[in-house]
Amino acid sequence: MELSFESERLLYRPLSNDDLEFEMALWSDPQVARYITGEPLPAEKIAAMMPVVTQRAGNGCIGIWSLTDKASQEQLGHALLLPLPVEADDTEFELLESNQMPDRDIEVGYVIKRSHWGLGYATEACDRLLEFAFTETDLNSVVATTDPMNLASQSVLRKCGMRDLGLIRAYAGRFPGFEITRGEWCRLRNS
Ligand SMILES: CC(C)(COP(=O)(O)OP(=O)(O)OC[C@H]1O[C@@H](n2cnc3c(N)ncnc32)[C@H](O)[C@@H]1OP(=O)(O)O)[C@@H](O)C(=O)NCCC(=O)NCCS
Repeated sequence: MELSFESERLLYRPLSNDDLEFEMALWSDPQVARYITGEPLPAEKIAAMMPVVTQRAGNGCIGIWSLTDKASQEQLGHALLLPLPVEADDTEFELLESNQMPDRDIEVGYVIKRSHWGLGYATEACDRLLEFAFTETDLNSVVATTDPMNLASQSVLRKCGMRDLGLIRAYAGRFPGFEITRGEWCRLRNS
């Protein structure tokens, strides 16, 4: 299975330790961190997390992908398919094992650097990861959650055909949940 792929404007490749500087800059922006960690992440924390967050599971099917603009070769952010934490308040990276898909709901997510917000990049990346999930893995559904105030992210999920679930148990709390099943995705694709 090819883990590097593309969409109309973006290149996707598995996040690696070479992305450390980019991730440090990304997470130093309070507006980027606002609805995820609440505050910017210190560089030392990113450096410590990097070897963990670059892990992949299910023979590479899930994990985090770096996003690069094809035309400019500029790195724009990252997008992910990861196990949704329910009682834990953060992603349980220990569930990522190379030879197996975690026995959990798998969530889609994305982070775009602020200079490139509002240009459709998150929607393009979310769409492409859903396509990957339903064509390259045997997942039967993909879920997502957002902070209740993160209206831009909710808009991205709806634009990608994800259905509102109301509040769901996730990240040790209750958050707006979204889902798309394989059948729904196929119908949308063929409509
Ligand atoms: C959320 C985020 C990923 C969106 O990225 P993006 O590339 O700007 O998203 P897109 O351009 O594809 O789509 C954004 C949509 O939200 C809408 N939007 C933006 N701000 C909004 C707001 N305050 N209220 C309602 N809708 C809003 C835009 O109008 C657009 O919808 P449209 O195309 O129908 O006009 C980006 O803001 C980001 O990286 N934020 C920080 C990280 C984050 O919160 N990630 C999501 C975690 S769940």
